[in-house]
Amino acid sequence: MEYRNKQEADSLFVQLEDEVKKWKEFNFPLPKITVITGSGISLSLPNKVSELPLEHIIPFPVYPLEGHTYSIEIYNVEGVTTLVQRGRFHLYQGYHPHEIVFPIRFWIMIGAKIVLLTNSAGALSDRFEVGEIVTIEDQINLTAHNPLIGSLPKKWASRFLDVSDLYSKELIETLKGVYTKVGLTFKTGTYVGVQGPSYETPAETRFLASIGGELVGMSTVLEALAAHHMGGKVAGLSIVTNSAISPKKQSLSHHEVVINAQRGNENLSKIVRTFISSLVNRYPELREDVH
Ligand code: HPA
Repeated sequence: MEYRNKQEADSLFVQLEDEVKKWKEFNFPLPKITVITGSGISLSLPNKVSELPLEHIIPFPVYPLEGHTYSIEIYNVEGVTTLVQRGRFHLYQGYHPHEIVFPIRFWIMIGAKIVLLTNSAGALSDRFEVGEIVTIEDQINLTAHNPLIGSLPKKWASRFLDVSDLYSKELIETLKGVYTKVGLTFKTGTYVGVQGPSYETPAETRFLASIGGELVGMSTVLEALAAHHMGGKVAGLSIVTNSAISPKKQSLSHHEVVINAQRGNENLSKIVRTFISSLVNRYPELREDVH
């Protein structure tokens, strides 16, 4: 893996600063809210303003992945500049943690205050059904990686990060109201982040459930840490794509995960749109015309 040494990491941080500078020089829109979507998730929002490939800001190779299109879409949702990052980077693709969180750091550096991380996840609890959207309440990072390892730019916050409110309680409270508004049952869960790419053995599944995991997936945990570290408020939503606990008739595949994620897309879109409306009411300063 790359970035074994300080020089390599430093050069990625310089590229990050450069890309941020270029974005601002080109007068591209500066988002207040960013939504990250992963495998099989296709979020639909009103009022698209512009779109460009994610590669535009990425200084390393972008490898294709089933269920992923890599793009940046910018919307004006009720006066709030909202950026959707379609596609993300994973450890199992061979990316380094600094690469995985590169876009998240970027969005916060250009002004995003709120980051909504969405993903597909396996259920480790029988409270959840396939297609349901679960609000992430907390996480267990079992990836054995952390984007705060190594030397970080001096002007960034301390790497010894307080994560007792990693998923903002305020935003979870807001999401609770959103579920009621759209007529869905509000459910929360603890998300366990693993490296993958193999799914879990029955023994691993029992272990993850026994340590308090309720959802399992191969993304999100590093992004949440980096976003919080950069000063963003973090919220997370999982579309449940499979039950990791009940015995399966067929073996689980990435294709099945992608297909099942699509079952949750409509409700996810409703939740996200209503979430943004609720945020506008709560924080009017997110709107372009209010400062
Ligand atoms: N395990 C790990 N990651 C996942 C799963 C799972 O069961 N489903 C979707 N992503």
